[in-house]
This record gives sequence, structure tokens and C-alpha cells, in this order.
Amino acid sequence: MLFKSIVLAAFSLAAPIAAQLATGYQLGPLTTSDAKWAVKVCDVTKYGAVADGVTDLGPPLLAAFNACKTGGVINIPLGTFAMATWVTLDDGVAFAINLEGTIIRTGTAGGHMIIIENSSDFELYSSRSSGAIQGYGYQFHSQGIYGPRLIRLISVEYFSIHDIALVDSPAFHLILADCTGGEVYNLIIRGGNEGGLDGIDVWGFNIYIHDVEVTNKDECVTNPSNHMLIENIYCNWSGGSAIGSLGTDTDISKITYNNIYTWSSNQMFMLKSNGGNGTVSDCVFSNFIGHSNAYSLYIDAYWTSETLQAGDGVLYTDLTFSNWKGTCANGVTRGPIMAICPTGQPCDGITISDFAMWTDSGSSEYYKCENAWGNGACLKGGSAHTAYAITTSTVTAAPSGYSAATMPSDLASGLGITVSIAIPTVPTTFFPGATPATARAYP
Ligand SMILES: *[C@@H]1O[C@H](CO)[C@@H](O)[C@H](O)[C@H]1NC(C)=O
Ligand SMILES: *[C@@H]1O[C@H](CO)[C@@H](O)[C@H](O)[C@H]1NC(C)=O
Ligand SMILES: *[C@@H]1O[C@H](CO)[C@@H](O)[C@H](O)[C@H]1NC(C)=O
Repeated sequence: MLFKSIVLAAFSLAAPIAAQLATGYQLGPLTTSDAKWAVKVCDVTKYGAVADGVTDLGPPLLAAFNACKTGGVINIPLGTFAMATWVTLDDGVAFAINLEGTIIRTGTAGGHMIIIENSSDFELYSSRSSGAIQGYGYQFHSQGIYGPRLIRLISVEYFSIHDIALVDSPAFHLILADCTGGEVYNLIIRGGNEGGLDGIDVWGFNIYIHDVEVTNKDECVTNPSNHMLIENIYCNWSGGSAIGSLGTDTDISKITYNNIYTWSSNQMFMLKSNGGNGTVSDCVFSNFIGHSNAYSLYIDAYWTSETLQAGDGVLYTDLTFSNWKGTCANGVTRGPIMAICPTGQPCDGITISDFAMWTDSGSSEYYKCENAWGNGACLKGGSAHTAYAITTSTVTAAPSGYSAATMPSDLASGLGITVSIAIPTVPTTFFPGATPATARAYP
């Protein structure tokens, strides 16, 4: 199967890791876009859309979808299409949306501009790698408010989203809710420099997210639940990636984050909860490069931004962090390793290996562990797995091999929230030295 060879090619760049995708399940659309083009083409301009930046795309998009929802391509050609009203595209099969032009938000309602729901065999892409959704979020953010989210997939199976830009969402950019068998790649997200503008929020089963750049000052790629592979991710002036915040009956497993580059963000990776129960298990966080992030490797089971949840605490178990390089912003105020586990449910089987991170400012840094068992850094070894008080170890010399590559043109400051954000082109690299697993649609 084509997919397998692609994954292996991507892995050959770094130490091989166990793919966490489920075997024997379809990943991505069941039929190719070429096959869909051959079935039927529903061009939005035949249903009333006009590329004049004024006429509402909402009704024509829904009409084109209704005409092609049992098979075909909804085509949004080059040009600027205004969207004043939102659409829910429900119950489609074997269809694609080819977005060549730009959709600009002109409506002000909340909710989501485009919802794709209860659908199967779906592709949202741009065959010229030119398509974009411009949310003009700054019009809300400059007034201290939020507006609609850009795209939400709900209960969609066997899909892909690729080769488009999602820009300046008034709220979250892309949400994949309860989706199965999906692939997201060659995607660039540029949001304003404030919280509440998440890049990709994903939960569901068997999803492969790769070659994505996110700039936004909130979650980069976050909240996966089960059998997910997330790699070649560039969090460029973002919040960073995370799992959580978690509550009762947490059941997260088999997540791999690999080749994650995080620049000037809140954290490189955070697992966060406050009380709660259930488990996060069997996850791998490998080949991370960070520069100038506030937090680096951060497990916080007492994350007080979340209200305390019922339960003894979420059990974090069998989590491997390997090959982390780079610098944190200030290792004295926020050390690059913080593993704060629940007293009622100590962490177990945590491995931290090949971890070499130094601090941008100052000449020391610390590692902090509490109730955390496993191997490496300040973790306690052995099999007791009992509660223990915070231990702090201070590192006074740069670990050898901490120096790590940077990406070209890392941001010197965040994107503003009071001026429009330009639509970028889809990049061709998302991690130092890594080639995207799938080439950009349009070279
Ligand atoms: C999608 O399917 C669920 C379950 O059948 C249903 O509750 C929901 O209303 C459907 N969504 C839409 C937009 O019709
Ligand atoms: C978590 O706690 C809730 C409520 O306290 C309880 O009903 C549930 O069974 C617990 N789940 C696990 C996995 O322990
Ligand atoms: C990071 O984001 C900034 C602001 O959008 C941009 O200028 C810079 O080119 C981005 N870096 C890369 C490598 O794309």
C-alpha cells in the first residue's frame, strides 16, 4: 500500500519509531480526487457564486454540495469568494472540495464557517496548493472578542485535508471531532498572537497529521485520543502542543509525536490535568527541537487553570520522551523538565532519554519531579511507584549536544491581533532536514 512506503520514507530521516496508527484500517479517502473529478464536477459559480469578494458563497456552496454529495468534486475556482453565512455539509459520500481561490469571511455569526458532518470518503484540498480561508479574525480580536471558527469535521471517516492555508481565524482554526481514518498534511495555519486561536484540535481514532506549520500563540496540534501519528510539525510562535486538560475517564493511548519543532512558544509538549482519572499510556514523544520556549517537557497533574476534577488523578504511564534538543527561554524560572504527577496516582514507566536542552538566559537550569517514576533526569527508578515530594536537580553546564538546527525565518515576534494577517504559501519543509511525507500538490 502506498501509505506504508510514505511513512517509512519519513521515518528514515530519524531513528525509526513504532508507528502508532492502527493497522488494517483505511487511512485517507477511499477514492482518489481524480476518480471524483471523473464522476461529477459541481462548480460553485454554476450555483450562484461570484468571485467578487461580496456575493455570499454560503448558499452556492451548499447547493453545489447537495448536487455532488453522493460523488464528485465541489470546485471553488481561483478568485475571492466572500462568505457571509455558514454551512453544514451533512451526509456526503465520495466527495471532495477543491479550493483554488480564497474564501474571505464577511459574516459575523459565531459557530463554524464550514462544518462537514456524518460523511465518508472526503477530501478538502487545493490542487494548486493555492486555496485559503481568510478569517479576518483581527476585526474581532482588536475589540477583545472572538468570532466563528473556520472548519469543523464531525464524525467524518476516511478523509484528508491538505495543501491549503487557514489564516487569522476569529477563533479555532481546524477541529476534527470524533473522526476516523484521516490524514492532514501540507497545511499552514497563521493566527493572531493571543490565546483561544487553536491550530488543530483533534480527537477520534487513527489519524495521521504531518507536515503542518502553526503560528498562533495557543494550541499547535493538540488533544489526540487514540492511535495517532503526528509528525513534522512546526509550531512557529505558538502555544505549543499538548494533551489535555484531562478529566474523568481519560482513555488516551498510542499517540506518537515525532519531529516536532517548536519556536518561541508556551511549551514544547505539555500533559495537563487537575484531578480526574483514567490513563494516558503508551505514547512516544521523539525528536523534538525547541528554541526559546517558556516550558519544554512539562507534565502538570496540578494544572490550576483547570478546575479540579473528580478522581485520584490521571495515571500517566509508559510515556517515552527521546531525543529532545535546543534551549528553553529561562531554565531558572521554568526548567526544561517538569514532571509533576498526581499524589494519588504516581506516574509510572516514564522514560526520558537523550535529552539535551540548555537555557537561553542565565547559566543554570533545573529538572523537577514529583511522584514520577521511570528512567532519566530526576525520575525515581525502581518499582515502588509511591508518592514522593518534589525533587529538584540543578544543571550548571550546558548538556553536550544541546545545540539544534533552526528553521529559516523564525518569527522575531508574534503576529498582531489588530491588523490583517497575510495569506502565506504552503511551505515545503516543516522540520529541519525533513522532506514532507507527501510532496506539495503544486510544486
Ligand atoms: C449526524 O448524525 C448524528 C447521529 O445520527 C445526528 O444526531 C446528527 O443530527 C447528524 N448531523 C446532522 C447535521 O444532521
Ligand atoms: C472516574 O471517576 C468517576 C467519578 O468519580 C467514576 O464514575 C469512574 O468509574 C472513574 N473511572 C475510572 C476509569 O476510574
Ligand atoms: C514563521 O512565522 C512568521 C510570521 O508569520 C513568518 O514570517 C516566518 O516566515 C515563519 N517561518 C517560516 C519558516 O515559515
